[in-house]
Amino acid sequence: MKTELLGKDPAAIQHAAKLLLAGELVAFPTETVYGLGADATQDVAVAKVFDAKGRPSFNPLIVHVSGIEMAETLGDLPAQARTLIDRAWPGPLSIVVPLKASAKVSPLVTAGQSSVALRMPASRIARDLIEAVGRPIAAPSANPSGKISPTTAEHVLGGLEGRIAAIIDGGPCPAGLESTIIGFLDPNPSLLREGSYVPDLDGLQRRTASLEKPLSPGQLASHYAPDGEIRLEVTAAHKGEFHIGFGPIAGDVNLSATGDLVEAASRLYAVLHEANQRKAGKIAVAPIPETGIGLAINDRLRRAAAPRT
Ligand code: TXA
Ligand code: MG
Repeated sequence: MKTELLGKDPAAIQHAAKLLLAGELVAFPTETVYGLGADATQDVAVAKVFDAKGRPSFNPLIVHVSGIEMAETLGDLPAQARTLIDRAWPGPLSIVVPLKASAKVSPLVTAGQSSVALRMPASRIARDLIEAVGRPIAAPSANPSGKISPTTAEHVLGGLEGRIAAIIDGGPCPAGLESTIIGFLDPNPSLLREGSYVPDLDGLQRRTASLEKPLSPGQLASHYAPDGEIRLEVTAAHKGEFHIGFGPIAGDVNLSATGDLVEAASRLYAVLHEANQRKAGKIAVAPIPETGIGLAINDRLRRAAAPRT
């Protein structure tokens, strides 16, 4: 299949919406990373997502909504979840809540579970697209499973060209790291994945990753992996290593010369893609402080550095 490269004008959005309604896959920009969208109500469309990405089918997908009303048709939103989404939506927060019995989503989206992940993106293009479709859109990051997430249309094409019907090119994603995922299935909310939204929530439990039975398969050990091997916390690189710097550690490229963690998050995946383009066999990364969004950056780097299976 030939992948159409679309602009972000209203005609392009309408065309993309038609493709989605016809059960095709369309990649689109969000404020975090590019998503690989499918009409969440169509089994065959959702199955194509798993096929295009080579994604294990036990791994459920985030359902993207254009507003709270659409979210309410899909999940039961407990009071604590409402408080948080009042603060964070539209924006890089996904909530996991009980799936409504009447929800019109393919069981493939939730991997057969009785919970659903919901997110209202801040990106205008993403919300216009969901509105044009008039249905929730299931969208994982638009990369082959286990590889680096895409923050530009070129990254998406590099991984999925020929496997998807179209991509809307909205330029680089401003935040550059996936949404934060918070579960509201127990009395206390739990942090299922660190991400672009830095939560300030009473009683938030940090879940530890288990390889055997990941709660949120972003917790699988090897993920976000570039082609080369990665060493972390490196202030002085070995000869031949591609050194990713931060702050005063200049490196071959710097995530943020001024030591700004938000800037570093926005550049992380682009720099890892650059390492692939340069065919870097060995990659070294400068220490990143474990504060604020630095927690999410380090989470992704540890997975990128994890032993591959
Ligand atoms: O920023 C983002 O969240 C991006 C953009 C495209 O919106 N999407 C994204 O999707 O990162 P993906 O599929 O790469 O990661 C979704 C994560 C996975 O780790 C999945 O296991 C988890 O969300 N997830 C989805 N539904 C879940 C559920 N019902 N319970 C627990 N985790 C769930
Ligand atoms: Mg992903």
